[in-house]
Amino acid sequence: MTNVFIEGDNLSVLPSLQAGSVDVVYIDPPYNTGNDFAYNDRHGVGRDRHRAWVEMMRPRLTAARELLADGGAIFVSIDDNEVAHLRLLMDEVFDEANFIAQIVVNLNPKGRQLGNFFATSHEYLLVYARDVATCVLDATSAHSVDPADFPQEASDGRRFRHLPLRNTNKKFNPATARTLHYPLFGSPTTGRVAATAFDGAVEVLPVFGDGTPAVWRWSAPRVEARPDDLVCRTVRGKLGERVDIFQRDWLHDGRRKKLKTIWLAEEVGSTDTAVAELKAIVGHVFESPKPTGLVRRILECFPPDAVVLDFFAGSGTTGHATALANAEDGGRRTCISINSPEPTRVGSNAASAGLATVSAITQARLRAVAEQVGGVLEVRVSGSPR
Ligand SMILES: C[S@@+](CC[C@H](N)C(=O)[O-])C[C@H]1O[C@@H](n2cnc3c(N)ncnc32)[C@H](O)[C@@H]1O
Repeated sequence: MTNVFIEGDNLSVLPSLQAGSVDVVYIDPPYNTGNDFAYNDRHGVGRDRHRAWVEMMRPRLTAARELLADGGAIFVSIDDNEVAHLRLLMDEVFDEANFIAQIVVNLNPKGRQLGNFFATSHEYLLVYARDVATCVLDATSAHSVDPADFPQEASDGRRFRHLPLRNTNKKFNPATARTLHYPLFGSPTTGRVAATAFDGAVEVLPVFGDGTPAVWRWSAPRVEARPDDLVCRTVRGKLGERVDIFQRDWLHDGRRKKLKTIWLAEEVGSTDTAVAELKAIVGHVFESPKPTGLVRRILECFPPDAVVLDFFAGSGTTGHATALANAEDGGRRTCISINSPEPTRVGSNAASAGLATVSAITQARLRAVAEQVGGVLEVRVSGSPR
């Protein structure tokens, strides 16, 4: 089973799911822009409007926390309207100690031209662990590794880059890491490096660019064990030419790179590309879907059998991204999507296409995903199998 869709108000559906069974929650709740928050009219304006939104979110986030496994994490998309309130609410529900990141997502690269001042081109992704001590989130990606960062080529065709073997962080120096300040031996002619002297070798001590004593990143036994991963070269520094030792850092299969906290549209997609994705699979039936690339980047941080939950599913982007991720790497992720049968606007593309509710849109997309991408879809209405 790849996708499960449950129609209903998430507040009543969430408690019916098994506690501790979800590895990653992704949600994109109504943003409270003044017209997309269904509860807005009943709850007033200004401060009251924020209070009403927070009161709507609190029990849902609390229920979501119960569902997360010990190693799990939650990702919440939000824009400037509620980011400050949401951050405080998440601190309250998940505990400030479990805050992981507030990522900037560049979903509108052209910038919103309608505002009075700046052309807003980003929103946020708030990330909290169920428990940072046990969280399995691996904030790296294989897709962000750039082969151009590995300009050297070995004789067997493998690519690599040179990294200084000396620790460039000034916190590590002979006073703080005494055993790592020791002489190595290298030949700038042949490139050979060893922990003991050999014919034609010069003694090399680790120094910072200004000539002050530094430390190596590797111990002498490690240098001895991995001679092919080191090279001795003559380099030009501020103080003229010097002989130094470098690590050959290889571009190998499965190599991953730490993700930054700014996610660009060219990496994860934009609202425009998300509309195009949706159009291609079911039509232009939802106004601001998220790109599948955004959710796929989140999924890449978790094991390939992760249980995913999106309880503000909208057009079903998270279920779509889950099926795409499984199709790419053969994973066995499952995704539970929940959306209420909120009526679509009269005269909207969705209504004209016969999709009377948002939950009908979610189902239409997930059905198309099952046919075109793969995986089985199970549909339930407020907890009961259909
Ligand atoms: C901003 S949209 C999510 C869009 C989605 N990320 C996508 O890519 O299509 C928020 C969704 O939450 C749904 N929703 C709002 N309140 C809800 C509730 N109490 N229970 C379930 N769904 C709800 C709305 O119908 C809407 O589809």
